[in-house]
Amino acid sequence: MARLKVGVLVSGNGSNLQTLIDLCATPGFPAEIALVISNKPGVMALERAARAGIATQVIPHRDFPDRLAFDQAIDAVFRANGIEFICLAGFLRVLSEMFVELWHNKIINIHPSLLPSFKGLHTHAQALAAGVRFHGCTVHIVRPVLDDGPILVQAAVPVLAGDDEQSLAARVLKAEHQAYPLALKLIAQGRVQIDGTRALIDGKAPGPAALLMNPQE
Ligand code: GRF
Repeated sequence: MARLKVGVLVSGNGSNLQTLIDLCATPGFPAEIALVISNKPGVMALERAARAGIATQVIPHRDFPDRLAFDQAIDAVFRANGIEFICLAGFLRVLSEMFVELWHNKIINIHPSLLPSFKGLHTHAQALAAGVRFHGCTVHIVRPVLDDGPILVQAAVPVLAGDDEQSLAARVLKAEHQAYPLALKLIAQGRVQIDGTRALIDGKAPGPAALLMNPQE
């Protein structure tokens, strides 16, 4: 059976990318990462991809007059490489509505909060300031509105006394490393359906299969 050809957009360290690389290396896994594109040269994510024998391209956003031109370039490269599905993994650019609609229901992102709480940046500081008892991460289908879209998988971690932004971020990142592979697995296995603003799994409202409570490494 042909494997789903996945493209990944990155800008930095790529620890989430690494978990997707490791997942796709599972024998018989129905998806492969066929291309990694970074808008920044020299980042660790590119090294991780190269080490795994995955093709990489650097497409600096500064080389383009505007967001649309940059997004068109990414779209063209993905299509030229037969990419069928896109994962955002620490990609620090907002995608245009044009791009998101061209890839409707075919882009997922991981966001370091339990959406719809704490959209945007500095999510761990936002969570600490709000005094929530649980924080976490969300893998969702990308929509033109930032950090919006049907939720695929969430992982919740406790906020502990004495936490600061760094300690909380580290706990959430460990949870991300479990949530993102789980989400890509559900996609690759063809188990996700989109029903309006919600994602279904196996045709039903997601149960525990898409929820990780206090995940441990
Ligand atoms: C993660 O916290 C992710 O949720 C956010 O950016 C960070 C990327 O980390 N979107 P990495 O590059 O995957 O290590």
